[in-house]
Amino acid sequence: MSKPQSPCLPEVDLPGVDAQHHSADSQVQAQSEEQKVPVISVEGKKVTCTGQYPSILECLEDADVEVHYHCRDGFCGACRVTLEQGKVVYPQGEPLAFVGEGEILTCCSLPVTDIKITLD
Ligand code: FES
Repeated sequence: MSKPQSPCLPEVDLPGVDAQHHSADSQVQAQSEEQKVPVISVEGKKVTCTGQYPSILECLEDADVEVHYHCRDGFCGACRVTLEQGKVVYPQGEPLAFVGEGEILTCCSLPVTDIKITLD
């Protein structure tokens, strides 16, 4: 018995058809990754950072993770931690305090993906 053929899809290999399909899947997956609530991994804890928090610092404080801070506004650098994995943004613009490669300021940043940080 032969395989039934779809009237819309020919039984031939069309170059690029699979690639386009996978590309669309990848875009959907990337969008859902960005839309899910980011999780912060820190000191063996997993902290969910919902949209109610204005910063990573406040999210961590609610989870009883002790992070150093002073100005809470991106000026002093006291809240600097090492970003091991993931991406953050600075919703109010780039902070004035020095931020080295692989570091973030928790008082004025928010995660856009799951992140892993190390407290300094
Ligand atoms: S607490 Fe001052 S820069 Fe974050």
